[in-house]
Amino acid sequence: SQNLVSVEQFSNQDVMAYLKLAQAFKNGKTVQLSQPTFAMNLFFENSTRTHTSFEMAERRLGLQVIPFDPKTSSVTKGESLLDTLKTIQAIGVNLAVIRHPRDRYYQPLLEAGFDMSLINAGDGSGQHPSQSLLDMLTIYEEFGHFDGLKIAIVGDLAHSRVARSNMALLTQLGAKVYFGGPKEWYGRDFEAYGEYQTMDQLVATMDVMMLLRVQHERLSQVNNQAFDASAYHQQYGLTAERAARMPKQAIIMHPAPVNRGVELASDLVEAPQSRIFQQMTNGVYIRMAMVASVLAHQGLISATQVEV
Ligand code: CP
Repeated sequence: SQNLVSVEQFSNQDVMAYLKLAQAFKNGKTVQLSQPTFAMNLFFENSTRTHTSFEMAERRLGLQVIPFDPKTSSVTKGESLLDTLKTIQAIGVNLAVIRHPRDRYYQPLLEAGFDMSLINAGDGSGQHPSQSLLDMLTIYEEFGHFDGLKIAIVGDLAHSRVARSNMALLTQLGAKVYFGGPKEWYGRDFEAYGEYQTMDQLVATMDVMMLLRVQHERLSQVNNQAFDASAYHQQYGLTAERAARMPKQAIIMHPAPVNRGVELASDLVEAPQSRIFQQMTNGVYIRMAMVASVLAHQGLISATQVEV
């Protein structure tokens, strides 16, 4: 596709093609751009991993990255996202990577129809397709398949674009998804994808414990003030004691940033079962695969270079 905005776009065959292309980049594959190509990363929500790894991916592919800071842009004068995008296209940007707090912010952009490519780097509590694909790569590297794997997604489900993207893609790929964390965050959307279990039930049987950050920036003021980190850790966290009861093959994942000592014990971030830093490294290669694919769609990279 020319634009990558949601995991709903991906067939299983597409996912495997992105994973294989990412693995090829990880093994040193390079590509040749047919002309000078320009990327702009428009982050209207804060980010360390996604922003940095998209820029790393773009630079490794040979793109030139034009800086954009919403705080010093004409967005502060009331310019809309649509007009901002029309502007940067007119100036010659070929790829816009966008993170925005509004769910489905990309819909009017897709309807407007751009010649440049759009990649969604996270929309509110909606979708986070590049995170989802890097998570798939990490799981695939570990187990070599998805079929029948038991994967728990635990924590702040209600506000999580990572949960929404991953539950859909993992189910589609044949994994069995379970949920944990505060029951009030396990709504009807999630029931359709998997059952709720307590942390003690989950740690005993899961292949993957995927923890999610409590997103204080999306909690109401009342809920935020009432939040007790220590009580959360005891009831819903991956404590050291619970981690010791995980099966031998099981791994710990977290999209990060991590609230150390809340959703998981601090020492577990660097524990042998943790794949948290591998996820970040894989993020660069997955984003190279995504960027190369959309550029191939525009003819800026020949199609044969992204075939695997
Ligand atoms: N996992 C993730 O999206 O991290 P950032 O918010 O730092 O990009």
